[in-house]
Amino acid sequence: MSKLFLTKPLSLLMAESNSDHGLRKSLSAFNLTTLGIGAVIGAGIFVLTGQAAAQYAGPAIVISFLISGLACLFAGLCYAEFASMIPISGSAYTYAYATMGEFVAWIIGWDLILEYLFAASTVAVGWSGYVVSFLKDFGISIPAQFTAAMGTVMVDVPQAGWKSLTPELTRNLADTGISIDSLPHLTGILNLPAMFVVAAISLLLLIGIKESAKFNNTMVVIKVFVILLFIGIGFMFVNKANWHPFIPKNTGEWGHYGWSGIFRGAAVIFFAYIGFDAVSTAAQEAKNPKRDMPIGILGSLGISTLLYIFVAIVLTGIVSYTFLNVADPIAVGVNAMGEGLFWLRPIIKIAAIAGLSSVILVMLLGQPRIFFSMAKDGLLPPIFAKVHPRFKTPHVSTLVTGFVAMIIAGILPINILGELVSIGTLLAFAIVCIGIIVLRVKRPDIERTFKTPFVPLVPILGAGICILQMASLPLDTWLRLIIWMAIGFAIYFTYGIRNSKIRNQKP
Ligand code: ALA
Repeated sequence: MSKLFLTKPLSLLMAESNSDHGLRKSLSAFNLTTLGIGAVIGAGIFVLTGQAAAQYAGPAIVISFLISGLACLFAGLCYAEFASMIPISGSAYTYAYATMGEFVAWIIGWDLILEYLFAASTVAVGWSGYVVSFLKDFGISIPAQFTAAMGTVMVDVPQAGWKSLTPELTRNLADTGISIDSLPHLTGILNLPAMFVVAAISLLLLIGIKESAKFNNTMVVIKVFVILLFIGIGFMFVNKANWHPFIPKNTGEWGHYGWSGIFRGAAVIFFAYIGFDAVSTAAQEAKNPKRDMPIGILGSLGISTLLYIFVAIVLTGIVSYTFLNVADPIAVGVNAMGEGLFWLRPIIKIAAIAGLSSVILVMLLGQPRIFFSMAKDGLLPPIFAKVHPRFKTPHVSTLVTGFVAMIIAGILPINILGELVSIGTLLAFAIVCIGIIVLRVKRPDIERTFKTPFVPLVPILGAGICILQMASLPLDTWLRLIIWMAIGFAIYFTYGIRNSKIRNQKP
């Protein structure tokens, strides 16, 4: 039983990181930063910002971004210390193995599937929505039953086209005097565009880390450029009246405006920050991980936070927050700038599609590398640690990840997926923060090229805020997390425990 908490010796981890593991070391500090921005800026800003402002925080969504960003900063500082100290592609899984033992490491490794693999599927569903709408602008329609999860009921809304049937849509239509029953209905079969993008990006990842990084850089340049364009032009159209009241009065219900609304908004837009930690999964492919990992993690987090705050300020200044409860809030902002800026509309859609593509890419890049580390440790079958002789990528785990993510993207709806991603990520962040304190006590002697400041205050605050945010997620999400973990335990106790290299090593 005590073997459950065996830790992986740091000397072994260091040796692994310096050994020839087959992966190509080609990523610079710039690549790592763009990888982080690639993973972070996506569905959160292009979809969730407006909804969170409209429903919970009003213009004070800016404060929600600051709060959520602060929690991520605490976790990011802890990730930076670990990633510079143990540059191994397993990320939080490896850090937990070194500090809290094999069982906790397995829990976190299994949990990270929720963050990376499920996030790739979630964002692929968002990508599908933008692509369908973009193609429609050019007169190309994909049959609606092949653009939504299996079983999703859809209705053909006048002017807007096919939309998923939600209580909110029914209410909005009723307000305009349209009965939902009078509109054509159909049921979704598969989300084919979402499946397509996952398959295409998986193939790119299979071919090479360099090629993938290049594609990511291009996507990042497009999305950052267009976001800057939106901020720059948007500032000229701000009507200060839209910022008043900055914190709308609470409606009497917790989470609906006022300060409780700001906190609820922070929990919702946490999704927008997910991804900066994915930089740490590329540690074994970085040229100089000890120096560049903290730059990649904290640089991408800082740049994304600044962009988010400016977008939130501008967006709520151009349009009253009450109009932002839509799937494409930034496009609504552009519409409000007037006909003169008609040309910016398709560009915003292209930026969203590029942005979401890079999120999918980095998530699908992170997941196989965690499998790779777990298989190297014997907790998953050795086939997951295979590296392609020519492409130098973990090809088997890349294909398995891509295949599973593709199926999930095709059949599950976005809301279920999104909340699972958030709870899984928050758990990982909390464990990484605690790990920093454990390792400072157990191994103060190890050289740390980057040190988290104010330990134990920063890790305690980081873990505390993550746990509070987990607590604010719905019960259903907790149940799904528990079921997911139960499946993970079953695999560990039937496979991992027998094949673990550390546990079964000869004395
Ligand atoms: N942060 C990523 C996004 O917003 C997951 O799409």
